Parts: sequence; structure tokens; C-alpha cells
Amino acid sequence: MSATLNSATHTFSGPEDMVWEEARYKEKVKRENRLTVGSQYVDDARMTCRDVNVYYGEKHAIKDVSIDVGRNEVLAMIGPSGCGKSTFLRCLNRMNDTIDSCRVFGEIRLDDLDIYGKDVDVVPLRAQVGMVFQKPNPFPKSIYDNVAYGPKIHGLAASRSELDDIVVGSLKKAGLWKEVNDRLDQPGTGLSGGQQQRLCIARAIAVRPEVILMDEPCSALDPIATATVEDLIAELQEQYTIVIVTHNMQQAARVSQRTAYFHLGDLIEVGSTDRVFTNPRHRLTEDYITGRFG
Ligand SMILES: Nc1ncnc2c1ncn2[C@@H]1O[C@H](COP(=O)(O)OP(=O)(O)OP(=O)(O)O)[C@@H](O)[C@H]1O
Ligand SMILES: [Mg+2]
Repeated sequence: MSATLNSATHTFSGPEDMVWEEARYKEKVKRENRLTVGSQYVDDARMTCRDVNVYYGEKHAIKDVSIDVGRNEVLAMIGPSGCGKSTFLRCLNRMNDTIDSCRVFGEIRLDDLDIYGKDVDVVPLRAQVGMVFQKPNPFPKSIYDNVAYGPKIHGLAASRSELDDIVVGSLKKAGLWKEVNDRLDQPGTGLSGGQQQRLCIARAIAVRPEVILMDEPCSALDPIATATVEDLIAELQEQYTIVIVTHNMQQAARVSQRTAYFHLGDLIEVGSTDRVFTNPRHRLTEDYITGRFG
């Protein structure tokens, strides 16, 4: 790169300007203090994460991250593309175990359970800490079977009527019951995108999770479906702890009580959502939320 950091010798010329700006910004970032600022810890933690590091082969994707997730809170994780939000989210239910090159270090607890303990079975863990993905991914099964599948394999229902109750209750909690109660035997994949995402939320709820992880759950939805899912998050919060990754800062402000800002694998800042958005303490957070970076 021919860009120079010496503005006195730099001639401003279109795209070159951007290269130079970028280089200067990177230089500035290097000098910044990368320790987390704000309040990482809470009194009533549901999950505690300490000194978490994640590598994909040689790539250090998450660097010394420590944070609590409070009981019945919605924690939003924000930051530029590639900063490690999904990687960190996947640490919380060991979904990274499915990626060969990925190694996770540090300690993550769900209440007293060390989820990376050697006796921990990931199948029930992933029911306790459920996940909703960016793209709705219903099974190629009926609406009923999408929701009933988890409770069946986890043995949560002793009879068909108990299973029916779980399916109906989960669809109601997910705000989908009224729209699908007359077509439970039809394929889940035949629903609209917003309905499919609520079906996936119903599927996650059906196995009685304690924590629900959501990775950009509204990014494939239109504004109306997004508003429905956001309302749902507010209702679910009464019973569950929710961690949501979002690129939409208005969404983070609407649905979460705490916000964590990640940058190039570092957890830069954590605090109450109001405080982080109105009075960010770290320069990098401020640059991001004001649209300077990312
Ligand atoms: N399976 C993988 N193998 C190798 N590197 C990966 C893998 N998944 C992610 N990474 C790298 O780890 C870093 C963090 O990626 P991650 O997907 O967690 O970012 P993100 O914040 O979720 O980004 P986005 O907002 O684009 O979804 C990136 O540099 C990415 O290229
Ligand atoms: Mg991601």
C-alpha cells in the first residue's frame, strides 16, 4: 500500500484518500487501549464467561473476553462484520465444537455448570441454551413435527397429549398459534419468512431452554415481521435469558437492556444499553455507533 500516514506529504486524490483514511484509522486503533471498559459483570448472572479465547487454526478470533449474562436480561452483541459476535455467541452453547479448526479456551458457566467440563453432554446443553439462526431453518417436516421433534428426542413428553400441550404452548409463546392452528400438518417450509423464524423460536422454546441465543434473527425479515419478533423477544424475556447479535443498532436499543461492543475479537465495552448508546466510554464504541466505522 502506498498510503502514507504523513498528511503533510499526502495529496488528496479520490480513492487514495480512502486508503489513507483507513490506514490512519488502523494506526489509531492500534494505539487504543483494548481492555474492556464499562460493566462486564452483574450481580445475578445466568452465564459467566471468563478469559475466553477462540482460535480458528492460527487465527485468534476472540481475545480474552470476560462477561456475564444476567438472569432475564436481553444482552445485545454489536460490532463490525468479522469482529467475532457469532463466534462468541456459538461459544455459549458449544456450537463451535462442530467446526474442526476451532479451539475454545477459558471458562464459561451456566449457573454452576462448567459447560466445557469433560462430562458435559452437548445435546442437553444445546437444549438448555437454545439457538435461533440468521436464516430461518425449519426442518422439512410439518409445523407440528418441527416443534415436537426436540421434546420427543429429549423425552420431555410422556404421552401424545402432553406432546400436544408442549407444541401448542410453544407456538402460543412464539406468537404463531393463531396463524397456524388450522394447518399444523402442513410443511414448516411453506410459511412466510417471519412465520418460519417464529416457528424456529417455538422449536427452541419447546425443549424448555434457560437461555436463547439469537444470531441476527431478523436480518432476513421485513419490517413488520421484525417488529413481531422484537415484541416476542420482550415477552420471552420474562421467562428466559436472551443473547442477541444484531447489526441493527435501533434494534439493539429497542430490545436489550445491556449492550456489548466487539471490535476485531476484543470486547471493547459493555454497559446498560441506554448508557452505551448515549454516552459511550470507548472511542471505538463511539466511532461505531456514530457510523464512523463498520
Ligand atoms: N469457520 C471459520 N473458519 C475460519 N475462520 C472463521 C470461521 N468462522 C469465522 N471465522 C473468522 O473469525 C472472525 C470472526 O468471525 P465471526 O463470524 O464470528 O464474525 P461476526 O462478528 O459474526 O461477523 P458478521 O457480522 O459478518 O456475521 C472473522 O475474521 C472470520 O473470518
Ligand atoms: Mg456473524
